[in-house]
Amino acid sequence: MLSVKKITLDYELSLSGVDNFPVIGWEIASDQQSVKQICYQLQVSHDKYFDVILFDSGLINSDASANVNINDILLHPSTRYFVRVRINDNHGEESPWSAVAEFITGMMDTPWSGDFISAENSADKDNSKVTLVRKPFSLNKGSAVASAYLHVSALGLYQFYLNGQKVGDDVLTPGWTSYHHHLLYQTYDLSEQLQRDDNVIGAELAAGWFKGDMGFTRDRNYYGEQTALICQLVIHYQDGTQQIVVTDDSWHGEDSPILFSEIYDGEICDASLEREGWNNTGYDASYWRPVSLIPYDKKVLTAQSACKVEKISALEPVAIITTAQGDTVIDFGQNLSGWVEFKVSGKLGDKVILRHFETLDAEGNVYLDNLRSAKQRVEYVLKGDAEEVYHPQFTYQGFRYVKVESYPGKILPENFRALVLHSDMAHTGHFNCSNEDLNQLHHNILWGLKGNFVDVPTDCPQRDERLGWTGDAQIFCRTASYLMHTRNFFAKWLRDLRHDQTPEGGVPHVVPDILTGHCANDINLAAGGTHSAAAWADAAVINPWTMYLMYGDTRILENQYQSMKGWVDFMLTHSENLIWRYKLQFGDWVALDAKEGSYFGATPTDLVCTAYFAHSTELFSRAAKALNRTEDFERYSALHQQIVQRFQDEFFTQSGRLAARTQTAHILALYFNLVPEPFRERTVNTLVELLREHDGHLVTGFVGTPYFCHALSQNGREREAWELLLKEDFPSWLYQVKAGATTIWEHWDGLKPDGTMWSADMNSFNHYAYGAVGEWLYRSVAGIEADVDEPGFKHVIIEPTIGGGLSFVDATYQSIYGEIAVGWKVLDERVTLNVTVPHNTHATIKLSSLGELLSAQDVDFKQQGTSGVANIGSGNYTVEYLRA
Ligand code: BGC
Repeated sequence: MLSVKKITLDYELSLSGVDNFPVIGWEIASDQQSVKQICYQLQVSHDKYFDVILFDSGLINSDASANVNINDILLHPSTRYFVRVRINDNHGEESPWSAVAEFITGMMDTPWSGDFISAENSADKDNSKVTLVRKPFSLNKGSAVASAYLHVSALGLYQFYLNGQKVGDDVLTPGWTSYHHHLLYQTYDLSEQLQRDDNVIGAELAAGWFKGDMGFTRDRNYYGEQTALICQLVIHYQDGTQQIVVTDDSWHGEDSPILFSEIYDGEICDASLEREGWNNTGYDASYWRPVSLIPYDKKVLTAQSACKVEKISALEPVAIITTAQGDTVIDFGQNLSGWVEFKVSGKLGDKVILRHFETLDAEGNVYLDNLRSAKQRVEYVLKGDAEEVYHPQFTYQGFRYVKVESYPGKILPENFRALVLHSDMAHTGHFNCSNEDLNQLHHNILWGLKGNFVDVPTDCPQRDERLGWTGDAQIFCRTASYLMHTRNFFAKWLRDLRHDQTPEGGVPHVVPDILTGHCANDINLAAGGTHSAAAWADAAVINPWTMYLMYGDTRILENQYQSMKGWVDFMLTHSENLIWRYKLQFGDWVALDAKEGSYFGATPTDLVCTAYFAHSTELFSRAAKALNRTEDFERYSALHQQIVQRFQDEFFTQSGRLAARTQTAHILALYFNLVPEPFRERTVNTLVELLREHDGHLVTGFVGTPYFCHALSQNGREREAWELLLKEDFPSWLYQVKAGATTIWEHWDGLKPDGTMWSADMNSFNHYAYGAVGEWLYRSVAGIEADVDEPGFKHVIIEPTIGGGLSFVDATYQSIYGEIAVGWKVLDERVTLNVTVPHNTHATIKLSSLGELLSAQDVDFKQQGTSGVANIGSGNYTVEYLRA
């Protein structure tokens, strides 16, 4: 039976607020093997029964079931559309129509009739209080409501209400973007919630990233000085008429009981000041003040259709402890980003005060030092009701532990839970194996992602930083994209990257960029080094390329094309004879081969810069090829060859010694293919030697670490790669696991074997960068590898790296075509390999150490020596063999 299992729009099950027709994709279900789609038919309608068809593609002979574009349909704003598909396959079967996918359009080209309105005045510039705005309105008489769509955004953060109910599940909306160029608005369907006669809409507004204290220099008002709301509620009536309610000077404002709320410092709420029912009908707001209109460029407003920050899950306390110093501390057992929600009973004026932190110190006491100036403090003043429930709203905390500084009554676990916040993305990667420590490492990598994908990819979620450091996001991008569906998350962030690029193509160190022009306190940054560091700025090229590889998405390459090119050209302009460096470089950041107390690893800067120059130029030339831009392809692939040649001339001696004797230099040269072929073996041997000099340990930083295992396993040193991954003593990934980590640390020596910590000035315990080894688990251990020539896993290369003494590995990756599964079991020398390949894709299984093939139904291996290669279609396969 052939059917369409799932249909997606811009990779999501549904979208709310789109400006352009989304790309369509679907997954195919069938009980046959080797299923290929022969043709498809797509239809679009305004109604889910497809009574009236707006668009019918007819039968299209094509095997495309992902990234399908419909261009020839004219969309209308504030309108709902339904899409369905049916297909025929190579076995002569025809599917029924799929379930429907739906989307609502945003404002599109409609002008915003309303203005940004604020309940603050210019004196509030240094104030981070929360304000309220409200507007009563009545529906037009006569006809019933056919649909009502709200488009809304804010300068600052907002929560919107209709008749007392919060609108939408998202939080920290509208998120953080390069606000001057790009401000997201959200679209909500209120069709069912409007009341026949009187209605009230309103919003809470907070400082957030817009005007709150941000960055390690703790500047404020980066984007403006007053919070403000803009909205347009579009109501369509059955009789074809329309009513629009917008933000204008008829709204009124007031202060909220939330007296203070900021990203780093937390929230203070005095519930005794609550204006009960303020966001509903029947409330007397006659004492509220008129709002003021805030001039702001409305052209920067862009629809956000998915991937908003939400409350994803909740964790219960695992323990309540009293520390040696007598503090009461709640342990949630997991380092995370989010809020504590608590229940409390007490009298008017009683207080709950919580301090959030990541780790206990060596004596088991509360450790706040590594938060630097971030207070991570929540204070709640009770109104004195029987039971009050509260969590903050316009801040978030990075924590595992919470110190309870004040709480009326007994502190019981059932009254506290941690709400986990992050951008809403589908969970796509699962990994389980016989080594529990490795499973914990995978867990920690996943939680590093969760903790730091809170609207922008942040370096860390706890201290006074939480910035979109480009290097961290670049290093971790591929791993993240195995774990979760990151396409829409990175598409949003890359848009900001290109907005914040310098006219010359330089790429800021953080995106959204709040460093440029604001770094007077830091010598290096003040010297003009706020952009364009190797491995950091290369996010401009590597991240869009990774999206293409993982999701076959050419649109992101098109959107980022000039940005990618700009960055490659920037390096070219600033290079001298193709060797380049520029102002402040981070190099192999926080590597252990750095001088005592320094952050900068021992690998020479010009080597790191030039290696990345070569790598980004190569990827950009491939992007040009993918988009059929032949001239650029030829030009930049030739440039890539020249850079490689220069790298070799500059950094290799004539007899094949790489002049920089560091692990990272060798890793980069190997992984980026910069080694002259005759010297490859020597380079690999030296890397292994460099490992042995440290008793098998890495001393690499941000630049070398992500590719260490790849550089070994891709060069016949699988055993060494496994040994490196499974090292348990300091410094290693599993050392952190053994030390009880639940996320990935910023420093290998964040917590040293003697119990002391790396200096508190920069010691995060939730930094995803070193979690970049996660891609080795998927790409090599499970061996689920993408093919550049058929991206998005249209063709899967399955090449597991069996070893590490593991008796089994089970991994799945939910690709855009469906689930790819690889499981291997080893018993003595007998290996059983189970593989699932999604329909409408195909795979190549590559085995090394193949001895005798025992069984391989429907898999036709070509064996040469101890290697076996087989091409297979979709379906489930089992292969058994003896290892050579
Ligand atoms: C961040 C890093 C970042 C680095 C750049 C740090 O403060 O936490 O992850 O990449 O600065 O130097």
